[in-house]
Order: sequence, then structure tokens, then C-alpha cells
Amino acid sequence: MAGKPHPRGESWRRALSFEFWLFTATIVLCTAPWLIAPDWAWAWTPVLVAYLLRHLYLLAHLALLIRRHHRLTPPFPRGLWGEIYRSIAQYQQRGRKGRKRQIRFTRRFREAANAVPDGLVILDKLHRVDWANPAAATLMNVHWPEDDGRPLFEILTHPDLKDFVETGESLRPMELAPEHNRALMLSLRITPFGERKRQRLVVARDITKIYHLNMIRRDFVANASHELRTPLTVIAGFLESLIDASATPPNHRRPLTLMHNQAERMRLIIEDLLTLSRLEMHEHPEVQEPVDVPDELHLILQEAHALSNGRHGFSTDIDENLLLLGSSPELRSAFSNLIFNAVKHTPDGTEIRIRWAAWSDSLELRVEDNGPGIEPEHLPRLTERFYRIDKARSRESGGTGLGLAIVKHIMNRHDARLLIASEIDRGSTFTCVFPRDRAIAREDPEHAGPRRAAPEPTAETHAPAAPEAVPPLRARG
Ligand SMILES: Nc1ncnc2c1ncn2[C@@H]1O[C@H](COP(=O)(O)OP(=O)(O)OP(=O)(O)O)[C@@H](O)[C@H]1O
Ligand SMILES: [Mg+2]
Repeated sequence: MAGKPHPRGESWRRALSFEFWLFTATIVLCTAPWLIAPDWAWAWTPVLVAYLLRHLYLLAHLALLIRRHHRLTPPFPRGLWGEIYRSIAQYQQRGRKGRKRQIRFTRRFREAANAVPDGLVILDKLHRVDWANPAAATLMNVHWPEDDGRPLFEILTHPDLKDFVETGESLRPMELAPEHNRALMLSLRITPFGERKRQRLVVARDITKIYHLNMIRRDFVANASHELRTPLTVIAGFLESLIDASATPPNHRRPLTLMHNQAERMRLIIEDLLTLSRLEMHEHPEVQEPVDVPDELHLILQEAHALSNGRHGFSTDIDENLLLLGSSPELRSAFSNLIFNAVKHTPDGTEIRIRWAAWSDSLELRVEDNGPGIEPEHLPRLTERFYRIDKARSRESGGTGLGLAIVKHIMNRHDARLLIASEIDRGSTFTCVFPRDRAIAREDPEHAGPRRAAPEPTAETHAPAAPEAVPPLRARG
């Protein structure tokens, strides 16, 4: 046996030539006795047997090495068998390197996943725990490997969790206070992965601090607004009486009117802040019913015409048969804000186009204008509270700057999204995108009555302090 390494082509040629000469020698040795000494004719048999035994030995040896998962190491036999041994040895080496790389990668991945402060849980296609990192134990009470194979819903109980995991991908994370530690507030995200996306990666983030800060902010705004409401009503009432009173000196009337206007503005702001607090309290409207969107749009358009006073052009493309499952006052408020915005925040002569239509996987209300447009840096901030591009102009038009914040909340409560696109000198488009399953055909008798949303389970410790009296949603003109 000789195992000297040769360049691939060269060693292959040598192996072939060795095999050829060995075969030729065997044939010569087998036929020579017949020709030279017929008495020795039997001698061909041991020669052929020796030749065949060599093949049999090398074949059996190779089979044994492979069967026992032995490493094939030089020296290798000569000829073609040597080439086969060498090639298998190279495959083995490549496989070993690949496995080492894989082990290194898996170890690094595990270390990284273990160091992540978020809880990570991998679920198999039947939604049972397949793997979890250490943070999942404190955050979600999922201990791995002890809980290996247990359904997640057994460990983390929440009425909406099953649907959430089964749906797989959700636009918004789910917030929940886990049963094992009610002081925690988690934000859960689900990502489908693996074969046919049937496995799930559940990521739990601890949002307790943010959640409490949000609660404090929300309660503060709600309580402050509520407390300011009554004094303001009294002030506005007296100012109105003073303006109308005959005893009021004429030179006092103008300042009193200005004071009354400002009091009225403050009242609108407080009303909007209370609306926002109320919208924030529940994830979905309490009553959902088929909303006659075409009808609502025609009413809003009448008001928009009055507001515009002929200064704008209107065109519509409304699917008269398409109703929407949702809260009628909320949707009216959202749509009116978008349409009135197109009137209030664009110059005379602007064309406004309103479209209500169903697409293959969504329903869209689109309010488009060809006004001066909005600079790109403002777009992501438009739905913030009190964010106005031109504060002075907006204030002049009586706006509070809370309209789009309210629209965004209303969209969230209807599983919808508000998309804003705008180009300078070409205009702006505000689109409300609803999920297709909220569509109702006008004649569909199945959806006749209102639906009450199931009460949302909130941890007692996190129950928000509700403002006592809730103002109705105002139309925004
Ligand atoms: N179609 C539009 N074209 C240009 N700018 C717009 C348009 N719609 C909204 N904006 C800008 O976005 C800002 C925020 O709008 P938002 O509806 O939140 O408040 P507002 O209209 O000023 O007040 P309110 O809705 O309370 O009457 C507006 O002040 C305006 O600057
Ligand atoms: Mg507005």
C-alpha cells in the first residue's frame, strides 16, 4: 500500500494505469501456462483467484471501515481502490469540518439567545414548547427542558393567546399580565417559521415600566381634563352671559368675545383629550355593528361642502354596497377628521377625492388631495398629539392638533392601519386600511344587529381609573 499524495488528475491517471497493468499481467499469467507448458495449465486458477481476492479484500475492508464509522487514513492501496479510499476520506473530512462549524454556530446561537433579556420560546407545529431561553422562565414561566413538549396555553393562560399563536403573524403585539407574576406586564410577539411556517417563535418583552408610565400619563390626562371641564364650562357660560348682557360696556365686548373663543377652544381640547383617554382604555369598541360607511360619507361630504364654501372641488368613488363592522361614532369621527383636514389644511382650488372600496384582502377609505403636500420629515410625527405643521394656521382654523392621534387610535381599535403618503406640490393621501373580514354587504341579513365586544381581561392591578363621564365623540369641523 502506498499513500503518497498526488495532484488529482495525475493520481487518477496513475491509478488507472496501475489497474490496467495489473489486469494485463493477470491475463498474461493466466494464458502463458496454456501456451508454454500445457502441463502447468492449472496455474491460471491461483493467479485469477489472487487477483479476485485482492479486490474482495479491499472491498470488504472498505465496507467494514464505513460500517464502523472509522476514519479512512493513509496509506491507501494502490490503483483505483486507492482513489476510492482517498475520495471517501475527503468526504469524511469535509463532513467533519461542516459538523464542527455547525456545532460552533449552534453554541454561539444558544449563548446569544441565553443572553437576550427577552423571553424566547420556540413552539413546534402543535404549539408545544420545543425550546426556551432562561429569560422565558422569569417572564413567561416556561422552564426548559422541564416544560419540553407542554402546550404553551397550559403554562401561560390567557383567553386570547390561543388565537394569537394560531394566527401566527399579527400587526400588533399582545399585552398580558402573566398569571405567575401579576406585577409583570408583557408584550408578546409571534413569528411563524420553519417548514411551511408551522412553527412559532414567541418573543416576550418586559414592558412593565413603560406600561405603568403610560397608565400614569393616561390617568393624569384623563383626571386633569375632567377636573378642568366644569370650571371651564362655568367660565364660558358667564362670559357668554356677559357678552349678551345690556349692561356690558361696548369696549368690553371684544375682549370678552376673545376670552369666550379661547375658553371654547380649551373646551374642545379637553373634549379631545377625554376622547383619547377613553379610546385608550379598551382595545376594541364595546359595541360593533354594521356601519353604513357610504351613508356616513355622504353626510360628512355635505358638511365638508359647507366648510369649504365652494373653495374646493370634490369627487367621490364610493362602493354603495359596502358596509363595515365597527363603531359608528368612532368611524364617523375618524373619517370626518380626514375629510375636514383636506379642506382645512389645503388652499382654495384644491381637488379632494374620496374613495371607499374593497380590495382582495382589505377595505380602504382613501382621502386624497392635490394640495401643497407635507414635507417628509413631518409624516411620521403627524399622528402625535398636538403635532401640527403650521401651528399658527392650524390654530386659526380652530384645530386642536389631536385629530390624527384620535384617528390612529380608532384605526387600532378596528384592527386597521392609517397610512399617510404625501409629496410636495402633488398633494397628500390618507388611507384607512381595514381587514377584509370586517366587510359586510348591504343585503347581508346575518349582520343585522349590533355586536358587543367581549369584556377585555385586564389585570386588576393594571385596571385604569376610568374618567367618570364620557363625552360623545365630536365631529371635527
Ligand atoms: N390633507 C392635509 N394636507 C396638509 N396637511 C395636513 C393634512 N391633514 C393634516 N395635515 C397636517 O397635520 C396636522 C395634524 O392634523 P390633525 O387632524 O391631527 O389636527 P388639526 O386638523 O390641526 O386639528 P383638529 O383635527 O383637532 O381639528 C394639521 O395641523 C396639518 O398641519
Ligand atoms: Mg384635523
